[in-house]
Amino acid sequence: MNELAEILNEQICSVNPVAFEMLSDLGKRIYFPSKGILSQAAEAKQLASNFNATIGTALEGKTAMNLPCVMESLPGFNPNDALLYAPSYGQKPLRDAWKAKILHDNPSLQGVPFSLPVVANGLTHALSLVGDLFVNPGDTVLMPNLNWDNYLLNFEDRLQAKLEFFQFFEGEGMNTKGFAARMAKVAAGEKILVVLNFPNNPTGYTPSEKEGQELADALLAAAERGAKVIALVDDAYFGLFYAEDSMKESLFTKIASKSKNLMAIKADAATKECYVWGLRVGFLSFAIGGADTEDSPFFRAMEAKTAGVVRALVSNCSALSQKIVTKALTNPDFYNQRQHCSDVMRGRYERTKAAFAAHPEYAEYFQPYPFNSGYFMCVHFKTLDANTVRLHLLEKYGAGGISFGKENYRVAFSSLNEDQIEPFFETVYKACQDLAK
Ligand SMILES: Cc1ncc(COP(=O)(O)O)c(C=O)c1O
Repeated sequence: MNELAEILNEQICSVNPVAFEMLSDLGKRIYFPSKGILSQAAEAKQLASNFNATIGTALEGKTAMNLPCVMESLPGFNPNDALLYAPSYGQKPLRDAWKAKILHDNPSLQGVPFSLPVVANGLTHALSLVGDLFVNPGDTVLMPNLNWDNYLLNFEDRLQAKLEFFQFFEGEGMNTKGFAARMAKVAAGEKILVVLNFPNNPTGYTPSEKEGQELADALLAAAERGAKVIALVDDAYFGLFYAEDSMKESLFTKIASKSKNLMAIKADAATKECYVWGLRVGFLSFAIGGADTEDSPFFRAMEAKTAGVVRALVSNCSALSQKIVTKALTNPDFYNQRQHCSDVMRGRYERTKAAFAAHPEYAEYFQPYPFNSGYFMCVHFKTLDANTVRLHLLEKYGAGGISFGKENYRVAFSSLNEDQIEPFFETVYKACQDLAK
């Protein structure tokens, strides 16, 4: 074990030894190489006023060497901002701005200590960082049966976790009872990682306040019984809440800093929240009982370990993307512009609801699962095979959606214009009629 890892591990143990036990073998071993090239370069930045020959970038004077044919695509940026490396932790102004946004959007977190977000290369990368830090082969990872399929690639295929699924829906709402029953079976001392994502991909469902509290209570009850619970809250579609009674804040608010045995992790991203899918800017934040002040050594150690994995794998994330997102977040019109996009999405959601309300005949072949948020909704076919319908829709009608399982079909109403929505479902209905003949 590297001496720097030992120091971080001691910092974590000094605050909460259970948190250390939750880490994977890699999570225990990893550290941020604060004594190597990076720290020497940082020292030189402060002190080497005459000659600085530390970092592997090319400079002309104090400016990044650059090709005009590159810079001409980047009006408004100077070469240093656009082209130089970002820190492995992410740029500090961005981390501060994202934390301020989290607090703005989740007022219940005021006064709740949690780490400064570490920047990842999109939310997928943030989720894989969590896997690296917490999951050993054979560890249990629990998630809903309706989930984003990339979880399987990361946790099962890449990390060899033992995946378990609980049924997501019960009737018209979330199966919080089934979830609580599964959590009640986690033994004292046993480690479990739970992945919860709202608004959910693929269903577009966000729990009500009551359901959200029931989920949090089940996590807390298991933790209080002595289980080591790591709750990974994937907030990819955060903010797109269309229904009166769904939660409007992240589930993270209900579990952060609530128990020494409950590690709450918030994974979120500019990807969908700022409508910048390809810029690849995501974040990871941690909270746990025992880490009671923002300056807790636990937070600094977890940030350092996360940045250590970033450093080992990708070194750092796009500085240009980080600058763009920082500029957006600190623009006084940010929340206004975000509201405008969210209103457009709400319009698409309402059209989708209206299409089903106006066409009870669809129920002969397919019905929607509950949906109230996000980008998606799903239907389940009564008798027809989902992939057969999908292919028929594609081939005969040029209409695309995603089938999964035998009966499910996901529709991203987010990517249809409002006036395409009713015709789209009409087409699904026609396809079903064709196939049922
Ligand atoms: C639930 C969920 N989590 C994470 C992601 C990944 O987002 P990113 O594009 O930032 O990697 C997605 C993207 O589709 C998603 O649906």
